[in-house]
Amino acid sequence: TTERSNQTGTAPVLVASNRGPVSFSTSDDGTLTLRRGGGGLVSGLSAIDDPNAVWVCAALGDADRRAATQAPYGRLDLAGHDVGGQAVRMLDIDPETFARAYNGVANSTLWFVHHLLYATPTAPVFDAGFRAEWSAYRAYNAAFADALAAEAAPGAAVLVQDYHLSLTPALLRAARPDLRIGYFSHTPWAPPEYFRLLPDDVAEAVLTGILGADRAGFLTERWARAFAACCTDLLGATVDHSALTVRYAGRTTHLGVHALGADGDFLRERAHRPDVDERLAALRAAVGDRRTIVRVDRTELSKNIVRGLQAYRHLLRTRPEWHDRVVHIAFAYPSRTDLAEYRDYTAEVERLAHDINAEFATPTWRPLILHVDDDFPRSLAAYRLADVALVNPIRDGMNLVAKEVPVVSDHGCALVLSREAGAYDELADDALTVNPYDVIATADALHAGLTMPAEERTERTKRLAAAATALPPQQWFLDQLNAL
Ligand code: F6P
Repeated sequence: TTERSNQTGTAPVLVASNRGPVSFSTSDDGTLTLRRGGGGLVSGLSAIDDPNAVWVCAALGDADRRAATQAPYGRLDLAGHDVGGQAVRMLDIDPETFARAYNGVANSTLWFVHHLLYATPTAPVFDAGFRAEWSAYRAYNAAFADALAAEAAPGAAVLVQDYHLSLTPALLRAARPDLRIGYFSHTPWAPPEYFRLLPDDVAEAVLTGILGADRAGFLTERWARAFAACCTDLLGATVDHSALTVRYAGRTTHLGVHALGADGDFLRERAHRPDVDERLAALRAAVGDRRTIVRVDRTELSKNIVRGLQAYRHLLRTRPEWHDRVVHIAFAYPSRTDLAEYRDYTAEVERLAHDINAEFATPTWRPLILHVDDDFPRSLAAYRLADVALVNPIRDGMNLVAKEVPVVSDHGCALVLSREAGAYDELADDALTVNPYDVIATADALHAGLTMPAEERTERTKRLAAAATALPPQQWFLDQLNAL
């Protein structure tokens, strides 16, 4: 039968997120090819060795949609695909609703609010177009809540992930009060005076949606406290600051801090496979015996790539001793290209990179190598090679690059780290920390990294690697589950 009954399901543990652990593409002959996703959540869930666990995610493109509609109830058969024991249910949400919810509300509105990205004299504007997007976001969250309610066994634990799904916890609680519901935020959280930019009903729906969970988890205490401050200021909720609880409308939500770490075992093994060695040899050939400054990011507004390049240009302009002695390797791979702001930003990154090479390159020295395609083994090779890693986001929930580089570095790497990254809270002692808006201070930190004595660099890198792997993804995931 392809009909779903109205009864409860059988899954004792469920995860819900917009982007799931797998995605599909269509090969030339029309068949569907599956690719496993990376990231902490995918590794984390592998700690659950329960074939009844279910991961509910959205079909993100046409190939995903085909896969979802071919499988009964969207439940995919992933046997033999190295994606853990759990089942995956991909929701086939109609493309217009999905685009409005994902691009319009999640990525253009909530992401911008939490990363403080608006140029406020002209944006945001909450008009009739936004209202259509907001309706779609509500429908998209309701589709997730329905699927979770149908799949969950009585008393099951459900872990809802991130700002795409902020309404889902309350919707799910209304449908299934028996469930234990957790919510986890992978982004920073905006301070109340910025969160108030949202229309009042939208701000309230987001906060009360999350407060539908028994526990709301954050990557750092900074973001947990900002969420609590929004609950007090906008809802009048009662916050117990020492117990980190929020009491609102007769219910208590516990706030948890779970600082996702790097997957040390996986990274060390993966970084020494032949495909990485090959790419390392190619990078070494391009760089020669010069020093290297490495950055690896999605081309994402909050990653602050443009100011990073301006800092490198300032370094070369003010310290000519580095000419022909350093190469900046910048990997900035495409992200959210449906949004005009991201396309414009990508163009600005490419223009500035071109200008830097035009200003300083010589027949034998290319000061900047920019790659705009995603290649994980090449990123690992750059991590191994780096003398300095530049991680300078305007604001970042955690930033795993800052945690991954020290783990795989071959000979120690100085870390230039923004104080606005969540990772700062754990790594500040051994990093060279910067205000991400201060291009001159960033250039000075790059210089300090390039001139750091080898022994100091090695010692700092060891301590950074230990801090970075303190809570590996599997433990991070189990901690949240156990706390529920
Ligand atoms: O960590 C924040 C996050 O938005 C995740 O939810 C998401 O999967 C990732 O960044 C990449 O963004 P996107 O899924 O929009 O490519």
